[in-house]
Amino acid sequence: MRLSLLAAVIALACVTAAPGADPARGKALYDARCGGCHTIAENGPGPRHQGLFGCRAGTQPGYAYSEALRVSGIVWNDAMLDRWLADPNALVPGNAMVVQLAPLATERVDLIAFLRTAAQGPRTCRRSNAPTP
Ligand code: HEC
Repeated sequence: MRLSLLAAVIALACVTAAPGADPARGKALYDARCGGCHTIAENGPGPRHQGLFGCRAGTQPGYAYSEALRVSGIVWNDAMLDRWLADPNALVPGNAMVVQLAPLATERVDLIAFLRTAAQGPRTCRRSNAPTP
């Protein structure tokens, strides 16, 4: 009960905060806090983010994900990304990203707005309805 209430509050916060979202601020945050491990187009220490929205978590080809993320059943959308960025360990215990890099809701809104524009292009991950690899 409390969890679903929390999820509803987070979802509502995303929706209501979206008009103030600033992809340019999100890009600066992405470069500063994510760029050490991630790029949009290439796998590195972290998986690429190309086509992220609508991807099943843990399905970019050529990247060795944790078992925990691969079997999480998550499909990436605004609400899930918000929870992941706020606290990866709370969402997926045993994942390999671990770090809390965007503790402020406003930062997450900006990051997600940036990812929405930047992570377009051909989708290389599995779609939401594909079976777990
Ligand atoms: C210290 C390295 C590191 C940093 C910094 C980092 N990540 Fe990650 N990220 C990872 C790793 C490693 C994984 C794969 C986790 C796993 O397999 O459990 C990952 C996974 C992800 C995923 C899931 C992708 C998928 O294909 O399912 C998203 C989304 C993500 N990171 C976003 C971000 C964002 C946004 C930032 C910056 C706020 C960030 N990460 C910062 C290492 C990092």
